[in-house]
Amino acid sequence: MTEENIKLPVSVVDYAKSNSINGKTILVRVDFNVPIENGVVSGDTRIKRSLDTINFLIDQKAKIILISHIEGKGGDSLRPVYDFIKNTFPVSFVEDILGEEGQTAISKLIPGEVILAENIRMYPEEKKNDIDFSKKLASLADIYVNDAFSVSHRSHASIVGVPQFVPHFAGLLLIDEIVHLQKIFHPKHPFVFILGGAKFDTKLPLIQKFLSVADHVFVGGALANDIFKAKGFNVGASLVSDMSSVQNISNQIFSMKDFIENPKLVTPSDVVVQKEGIKGVDGCVIKKTNEVLEDEVIFDSGPETVEFLKKLVSESKCVLWNGPLGNYEEGFTGPTIELAKIIAETGVDGAVGGGDTLAAINTLGDTVESKINFISTGGGAMLQYLLDETLVGIDALK
Ligand code: 3PG
Repeated sequence: MTEENIKLPVSVVDYAKSNSINGKTILVRVDFNVPIENGVVSGDTRIKRSLDTINFLIDQKAKIILISHIEGKGGDSLRPVYDFIKNTFPVSFVEDILGEEGQTAISKLIPGEVILAENIRMYPEEKKNDIDFSKKLASLADIYVNDAFSVSHRSHASIVGVPQFVPHFAGLLLIDEIVHLQKIFHPKHPFVFILGGAKFDTKLPLIQKFLSVADHVFVGGALANDIFKAKGFNVGASLVSDMSSVQNISNQIFSMKDFIENPKLVTPSDVVVQKEGIKGVDGCVIKKTNEVLEDEVIFDSGPETVEFLKKLVSESKCVLWNGPLGNYEEGFTGPTIELAKIIAETGVDGAVGGGDTLAAINTLGDTVESKINFISTGGGAMLQYLLDETLVGIDALK
């Protein structure tokens, strides 16, 4: 599929070809919800990927207001992000963009300068998509730009509210995400979809969709526990989903038996288990999937599974991957990092995304990372896009 026949929102770059944005105030929704450790940015992928749009607007001598949320474990202030970007371009930090402080800072902006506003979610109206709040935000600027693909699945004011009240365009990152992820709907074959992480019940519709598109759907991470359980294996004290919601979510008569018997569906053949109650990786053991005991917890995929994935990926012409193979937060990172390396080394077409997936990729360094065909900045947004082939934030730009 070529870029010409993908239906894209109008980008601010295209708009600027025939309309000067010199001196115009532009409200840019970015996603700087990045990992912070000890008050310092520890993963800068999303920031780096926003730079094309920001630098373009700076070059065009626009006055730029960046708005973002942050809601990670590292805190709820964007000040560490400000510290991280302040030497990259001329930027100031404003705590209350809608108050007097914001008014003054905006009135003093000179073309080519940037304001980074504090966490937009500190206003409770943001998540409620409050109409007056959206109008107030829109009134700050002449133009709105959405460059926050990774939060465009949220019906929040800064995503779907603001564009109702001001001319609106897409940023370059948003366009790039759409162009690359659209290609997945017309993949080269053999095509493998690898899905990890947790919440089988919410990810089931996506697995079902890709079982009809892909040649193989590999389900790993905690998601696989539900499948092991359905196959009659003991999963001990492992994390499983609330299956009572499955019928409602998939919105159709769903047969777990037909599902697990689908020959395209693949799950780990070996797993890393830990005794219940023990934290961390020390003392964990590798077992065949059907050998897990009552007092054990499955935390990761085993080495045989990683070898299998290596073969599967190397035989594929397109690979789509989202979500870790193990409990990344508890330190079970090895197989996920190994998979990132395998995908980078084969240089196979496709896309990868998800918070822990990005963290795994970041450990490989820029040289390996650059071999990966496309890294989506989205986690939940990527999954939602893959399911619906659009997002509320993209629709809001039409
Ligand atoms: C993400 O990290 O997936 C996005 O920034 C969206 O964050 P949210 O899940 O808090 O809306």
